[in-house]
Order: sequence, then structure tokens, then C-alpha cells
Amino acid sequence: MRPSLMRSTSQLLRRRSYSSASGQPERKVAILGAAGGIGQPLSLLMKLNPLVSSLSLYDIAGTPGVAADVSHINSPALVKGFMGDEQLGEALEGSDVVIIPAGVPRKPGMTRDDLFNINAGIVKNLSTAIAKYCPNALVNMISNPVNSTVPIAAEVFKKAGTYDEKKLFGVTTLDVVRAKTFYAGKANLPVTDVNVPVVGGHAGITILPLFSQATPATNALSDEDIKALTKRTQDGGTEVVEAKAGKGSATLSMAYAGAVFADACLKGLNGVPDIVECSFVQSTVTELPFFASKAWEEWS
Ligand code: NAD
Ligand code: LMR
Repeated sequence: MRPSLMRSTSQLLRRRSYSSASGQPERKVAILGAAGGIGQPLSLLMKLNPLVSSLSLYDIAGTPGVAADVSHINSPALVKGFMGDEQLGEALEGSDVVIIPAGVPRKPGMTRDDLFNINAGIVKNLSTAIAKYCPNALVNMISNPVNSTVPIAAEVFKKAGTYDEKKLFGVTTLDVVRAKTFYAGKANLPVTDVNVPVVGGHAGITILPLFSQATPATNALSDEDIKALTKRTQDGGTEVVEAKAGKGSATLSMAYAGAVFADACLKGLNGVPDIVECSFVQSTVTELPFFASKAWEEWS
């Protein structure tokens, strides 16, 4: 046997035994907007996730390079890059989880609603393709304004006859990540032990961190401290937008938060019990049709 063939055969064998050794089902994750500020670090983090067997990186430009780069990392997920409308179907086909960070970010002085005109159209087109090519996938919506892009996706899926409210999530994990960090810092608690539910929506005062339900509880914080922590969590996105001074919004912390949420989705799909994450979903908790709250689901 020629050396190159020997190498490819042994790689194949290693891959097969690796997959059966892990005992996990094969899972395909697609990232739409994978060449962007969030998309690139999120692609890296999903490539490192052992629950991912196939990673599909889609964007309107730049994905061949991102995919080539990420694909050299020696973790099990097989990476493929897709670019442009004509490759969107192939990128999505067979996906278990689709993560959407496609769209424009804020600049200083803008609200998330100012992104609506551009991002609504992007999300509508991508959701139409999801309904066609992977109607059963769990959809993790990152594109802003989340309070509007999630209902847009829901309407597209309803029109296509594929809507399942248990499979559409607005990703609000960054609000939780920020609330945990700020609470732990102020209360002088080990940040990895801290949990803080955040409910409501993902814009300004609709972001409602429930510090009264934070764990571990503390009596080190005054009412004024809680007020300040609440405001900082609500303004966390703006804090980053202003610090980046025109060069976009949160990307690295968002990629981390997106990876945490996608991992929870994969675990849920794989039947891991008691997976709980806050996210913006169709809801009966209030009179609002969509509301972020603690969601406990087993998707399998
Ligand atoms: P970015 O401009 O760096 O990247 C966006 C990417 O989307 C680009 O690569 C662009 O080519 C791609 N894109 C545009 N149209 C597309 C389409 N039709 N199909 C596929 N890809 C397309 O922006 P970013 O910093 O990565 O932010 C992306 C979005 O995420 C923004 O709307 C931002 O407001 C939002 N965001 C949400 C949260 C959250 O907590 N949910 C946090 C941070 C940012
Ligand atoms: C965030 O919370 O960081 C994102 O929604 C991006 C933004 O525009 O603030």
C-alpha cells in the first residue's frame, strides 16, 4: 500500500473507533454567519466540543478560509465551509443544531432595534432555508434584535408548516454570563460557583436579572448594589459597543455564551437529564408571546 493510502486508512480507522469510543450519537451543527466577529470564535469553540461530529460553517463570504483554518485542529468534528446562497442547502442538510450569528452589529449610539431593517431580512431568508433543509433542527438565534428575530423565525416556520416552539431559542446566555460575572465580582464569590437566572428579553430594561434568586445567596449586597448590578447587566452590550468605539459589539463573550447554549442543546438532544438554561422562547409565563425564562427540556 502506498504511504498516503496507509495514512488515510489509519485516519479513518482512528476516526471510527474514536466515535464509537465516545458512545455519543453523531451530531451536526451548522453556524450561519461563521466568518463574522462572533462566527469565527464560535466556530473554534464548537470544533472543540466533543459532542459535535460534523461542523458546517456558512457565510456569504470568507468561510473557505475560516473552515480551512478551524479544520486543522485535532478534535473529532469534521469541518466543512460553505459560501453563498447556492451552498446554503448543503450547509444545512442533516443539521441537529443551527446557530445564527449572521447580521450587522451595533455601533455607538445605536439601539438593537436600529438593526431590524437589515437583520430581519437576513433572518427571514435563513429561516426559510432551515424550514426547507433541516426542519427538525434546534435553532439558536443570536442575531439582533433577538426580541424581534425570534418571532420572525417563528412566523417563517409557521408559514412553512414546520414550527415547533420547543425548537426555537433566542440566545440570551450572554445576559446570564454577564450577571454571573458581575454578581460574583461584587459579592466576592467564586465565579464558577455562581448562577443567576435572567428573564424577560434581550434589550435594555427588558433584560431582567433575578439577583434575588442568585446562588449562592449573599447578604453582602445592599439594595443599591443590586440596582447597580441590574443596570450594568442591562447595559452590558452597550458597555462593549462603546469600548469597541465603532468596531462592533460583543463577539468573544458572545461566542463563549453561544457555545455554552449550543452545548446545552446538544446535551438535551442526547438525552442528558436536567439541562436548564434561560432563553427567549415562546412562552405562557406572562401575557407576552415570547419571554426569556428558565427552560428545562429533554429534546430526545
Ligand atoms: P459581524 O458583522 O462581525 O459578522 C456577521 C457575519 O454575518 C458576517 O460575516 C456577514 O458576512 C454574515 N452575514 C451577513 N448576511 C448573511 C447571510 N445572509 N447569511 C449568512 N451570513 C451572513 O457581526 P457580529 O459581531 O458577529 O454580530 C452578529 C450579530 O449578532 C449582530 O446582529 C449582533 O447584534 C448580534 N449579537 C447578539 C448577541 C446576543 O446576545 N444575542 C450578542 C452579540 C451580538
Ligand atoms: C450584547 O448584548 O452584547 C449584544 O446584544 C450586542 C449589542 O448590540 O449589545
